[in-house]
Amino acid sequence: MRAVARGAAFVAGLLTGGVVAGVALARVTARTRVECRAQAAEADRSHRSEQELLTKLRALDAAKTDFMATVSHELRTPLTSISGYVELLRDAEHDELSDAQQRMLEVIARNARRLRELIEDILTLSRIENGGFRSQPGEVDFAEVVERALAEIGPAATKASVGVHAEVRGPLPLRGDGVQLDRVLANLLSNAVKFTPAEGTVTVRARHDNGEAVLEVADTGMGIPEDEQNALFLRFFRATNAIRRAVPGTGLGLAICHKIVDNHGGTILVDSIENVGTTVTVRIPAVW
Ligand SMILES: Nc1ncnc2c1ncn2[C@@H]1O[C@H](COP(=O)(O)OP(=O)(O)OP(=O)(O)O)[C@@H](O)[C@H]1O
Ligand SMILES: [Mg+2]
Repeated sequence: MRAVARGAAFVAGLLTGGVVAGVALARVTARTRVECRAQAAEADRSHRSEQELLTKLRALDAAKTDFMATVSHELRTPLTSISGYVELLRDAEHDELSDAQQRMLEVIARNARRLRELIEDILTLSRIENGGFRSQPGEVDFAEVVERALAEIGPAATKASVGVHAEVRGPLPLRGDGVQLDRVLANLLSNAVKFTPAEGTVTVRARHDNGEAVLEVADTGMGIPEDEQNALFLRFFRATNAIRRAVPGTGLGLAICHKIVDNHGGTILVDSIENVGTTVTVRIPAVW
């Protein structure tokens, strides 16, 4: 009888324990549910504020691009007038101007040209960023683009005593904008030549590889410090060694190249070691 009573007490104890545990579990579950809901609401709030921030940043970027385009456009007209009058003066009879005046005119003409190039670069960049670049692409032979740029850079390379070697295996047909691709090549070759000291070399290779036209522009120049390389495609970026050695430039060329190559569905990579050299590789999908 005593054993039965003990058994009943044991079962009752178990039941009470079970009920207590059940109540505790229910409380924990309810608390967890409330906490989860609060966390979800918090995540939702921070996602929304991130989206708002992103929208504001995009608007700011668009406003900056618009501003740059407007200012550049407004600068173009007076600059065209200055350049026109400088040309008129330079055409004057030789005895009308002294040698000193002729030299001053040369300086004005050179700086007006630099300003014009800068304005054109800013306008190109804002056009590309506003989506205005999406002109009708045609069939372009990339090998011809490379050959044209090589012919153009020739005199500057000779003047700087930099040797240019080329290995172009064409044709390299692709769908693209020939004028914009000319710009990419001109920028890359002008960088390779201007950042390479006398007696250095620039090697240009263009070939077809796995459905892509591949271009490599390699130089034995000053290179780019490693910790600055991730900023190369930002507008107005110039590496510290280029500034220190007073190599002229505005820092827009690579930003323009990057946008144009991107718009062609391609990639551009810069591989550089300071004081050893730089290799820029461009890959653009081809058509066959
Ligand atoms: N081949 C290179 N060798 C060494 N440094 C380079 C080379 N190409 C680019 N850079 C570095 O990257 C920077 C940005 O290049 P980018 O072409 O955009 O500007 P830039 O040549 O200085 O001016 P811009 O092209 O607008 O006339 C350069 O100022 C230079 O510091
Ligand atoms: Mg450049």
